[in-house]
Amino acid sequence: MFFFCKTNQTKTKSGSLISKPKRSISRTDLITFMRQTIIHISDLHFHTYPQNFQDCGSKRILGMANLLFRRARQYPLQRAKMLVGQIQNMKWDHLVISGDLTQLSLEAEFALARETLGPLLKDRKRVTIIPGNHDRYVRQNKAKDYYKQHFGEFFGEEEIHVKKLNSDWVIVGWDSAHPNDLFTASGTVRRSTIQATENLLGNLPEKTRFIIVNHYPLTFPVGWKVDHSHELYNLVPVREWMMRYPNIRLYLHGHIHRNWQHRLLRESSPELLLLNSASSTSRIYSGQKSSFHQIDLVGDKVKVTPILLE
Ligand SMILES: [Fe+2]
Ligand SMILES: [Fe+2]
Repeated sequence: MFFFCKTNQTKTKSGSLISKPKRSISRTDLITFMRQTIIHISDLHFHTYPQNFQDCGSKRILGMANLLFRRARQYPLQRAKMLVGQIQNMKWDHLVISGDLTQLSLEAEFALARETLGPLLKDRKRVTIIPGNHDRYVRQNKAKDYYKQHFGEFFGEEEIHVKKLNSDWVIVGWDSAHPNDLFTASGTVRRSTIQATENLLGNLPEKTRFIIVNHYPLTFPVGWKVDHSHELYNLVPVREWMMRYPNIRLYLHGHIHRNWQHRLLRESSPELLLLNSASSTSRIYSGQKSSFHQIDLVGDKVKVTPILLE
């Protein structure tokens, strides 16, 4: 099938009008035009070491020990650079990073993350970045919210981040990360966040489909031992709320460092697809199948391609 544009007429030297050939847009062209490709990465965990005593708060000392013994080996900077290079060579419309850019939320870590990710962040409108618990690692005054200082422009100033991809799909980013006590890594989806999302859902055309981006998982693999001090405090009510909105088709998250794709079935409406892209920069563990995901949206259809960073 072809879709024809208006006929163009042009004048010859003698003054007579002739019709130019009709420019046609094939169905393939239209599908290419409507297709949106998202790259979803998560939990990059850029790290530096604290430079002064002030940086070494109590929780950071624990984090430092963890970093020294485990994470530094797990997250060589070279892998982050590899990831950036790989994504630069791919065709995509929008990049989503679902939190944990850093390890100890030090300013130097955010600066390193910003510099390394720079080639992917040239067009702010093509990027969504939300914070994870490691980006709000210790209690700090607002002036020291380094996530906001270095990456706030990719979320915005409102309660929720909203990015309209096309007439069919909208991305909604949540900020559920907050500091915790020494042994806790939990988050909370605020009531105001749910309210703002409900308002958005109610105000857009009924056919609009939504992609929620949040740091924390809503589902776990079979047999997974859920650690309640490591998850969303309000996981169950948030998941139940989401299942009531059939137009929410995708939930992109990180936090648990195992890539996965899960599906939650709704009784008489489309399923909810949940993608975990953590951790995209970590060294590959035995049996690992993917480091991040490519998501292709064409009309109502969602195609997910897992990608291994090797
Ligand atoms: Fe993480
Ligand atoms: Fe996390």
